[in-house]
Amino acid sequence: MLIAHLSDLHLFTECSETGETRADIAQVVESIIADLLTLNPLPDIVAISGDLADGGSDEDYQLIRHLLAPLPMPILAVPGNHDRREAMRRVLGNRLAGLEAGEFMQSRIDTHDVTLLGLDSVVEGEARGALCNTRLAWLEKQLQHTQPVTFLVLHHPPFMTGNPHWDPYSLIEGRERFMEIISGSPKRILCGHIHQPLHTYWEGHYAGIAGSPAFQYNLVPGSVSVPTACKVPYSYPLHDCQPDGSVIVHLRHVAQA
Ligand SMILES: [Fe+2]
Repeated sequence: MLIAHLSDLHLFTECSETGETRADIAQVVESIIADLLTLNPLPDIVAISGDLADGGSDEDYQLIRHLLAPLPMPILAVPGNHDRREAMRRVLGNRLAGLEAGEFMQSRIDTHDVTLLGLDSVVEGEARGALCNTRLAWLEKQLQHTQPVTFLVLHHPPFMTGNPHWDPYSLIEGRERFMEIISGSPKRILCGHIHQPLHTYWEGHYAGIAGSPAFQYNLVPGSVSVPTACKVPYSYPLHDCQPDGSVIVHLRHVAQA
């Protein structure tokens, strides 16, 4: 059971919302998809932890749909702060696996040994993350019955990363209740938002942040400077779930122009 984790693609058609996103991001994502398709065996699931678009127009999601089209496996995706729920659901909704109806974009996929839950941590129009009572109640209900290994996919990290610029925009609202709900058995938390690959153990759970092919930071631990985008190699994580319940995380490097 292999899960590929992508994040923060920031695809756009007309103009970039962030201004930092590389102009050729569509070609870069195309090369990542092509790389993923060379894997043998192919990943069983692709999980995308938000910011699929860099502005969130219908055209942006049509481009994303086109780029994701060659992937034959289920895709679980949650929105990020640069996405727009309405357009994302309208254009991509029937392409995303396990997406539930409702105000928020939350998803569930079960295989024979793994459950993936996608959580919508977006506050529309704001960079910060939040999980309200509605979303937390959904999570609590989903966790009543899961497979032996549970992945939680959400855009905003629920833990402090040590990045003084981004930590105030992580999952602050709802964090305490989120911690309570997921306590009891270790989960595997997959996030994005920070644009820098990180791995940690938080409250007994593994947590991994995937980097971004659109632009990345290279913040030195302990530094208080405002991070600026810089050229660092891109890789995406592959979570290889073993029959005994352990998971090996491989980093798959993709050459970039
Ligand atoms: Fe992002």
